[in-house]
Amino acid sequence: MSTAEPIRYAADWLELREPADARARSRELLSPLTAHLAHASSAAGGTAVHDLGCGTGSMGRWLAARLPGPQRWVLHDRDPELLALAGAGMPDTAADGAPVTVRTRQSDVTRLRAADLAGASLVTASALLDLLTADEVDAFAARCVQARCPALLALSVVGKVDLDPADPLDAELTDAFNAHQRRVTDGRRLLGPDAPGAAARAFRLRGAEVHSRPSPWRLGAGEEGLLRRWLTDWVAAAVEQRPELAPHADAYLRRRLRSCAAGGLRAVVHHSDLLAIPAAPGGTPA
Ligand SMILES: C[S@@+](CC[C@H](N)C(=O)[O-])C[C@H]1O[C@@H](n2cnc3c(N)ncnc32)[C@H](O)[C@@H]1O
Repeated sequence: MSTAEPIRYAADWLELREPADARARSRELLSPLTAHLAHASSAAGGTAVHDLGCGTGSMGRWLAARLPGPQRWVLHDRDPELLALAGAGMPDTAADGAPVTVRTRQSDVTRLRAADLAGASLVTASALLDLLTADEVDAFAARCVQARCPALLALSVVGKVDLDPADPLDAELTDAFNAHQRRVTDGRRLLGPDAPGAAARAFRLRGAEVHSRPSPWRLGAGEEGLLRRWLTDWVAAAVEQRPELAPHADAYLRRRLRSCAAGGLRAVVHHSDLLAIPAAPGGTPA
């Protein structure tokens, strides 16, 4: 039985990060994805995409307009308020002007069954994998492979941050933040930055072809709002994990925010995007 309330994501945070997310997402993965979909999608029904943990719909807004042909999106999230925003904010046309339709489904994506993906052409998830456990990622890969459905898993944190100028506390805060991401919550050990590797292994083990590309946020002058919010949350998570860091971390954050306000701070927050294409019955990618 669940004891902890699930973490809720603020719509304004997802909105603030959406432009940086859009710039970071790997365009290179679109070629193998569109080639696969052109081959696999039914001409009549078009492409059926399930976006898991859709938040306010950032992934769909980015991807729907880059895929050709009619699309039917099913947006999944456990948060009904985010789901309503996502449903209302999707584009209604594809890259070539074909129609895009949208349905929303309030659900816990860790309980996804193979039947939930019946008829799916593609599963997407963005900034979600780090919130799952090893068993959940493994089960998710198994469901996709069972359904012979490719998965585009975008913007997974990899546990690396580069700040310019560097500060002696950067490494310690990074370690504490990563430990926070790997915490046990409600009896579940989250994967945090280990998620992209775990997902790649789970898909490869089941014969899928896996493509992985870096998708870093590159934040600098002009993005002070996002930089300030990310930095504040990053330090807070590190201190929640290691409270003894608080005195140094407070001074660090003040220094960093001053430098950010003066336009003198840059950050690269590393992520990775992964495309997994299950093998066709004969053994080659479907
Ligand atoms: C970091 S946000 C990312 C949102 C969106 N994909 C994006 O890229 O902006 C994670 C989202 O996953 C949802 N989420 C987390 N765990 C979930 C679960 N087990 N079932 C359904 N939704 C979940 C949260 O409600 C939140 O909307």
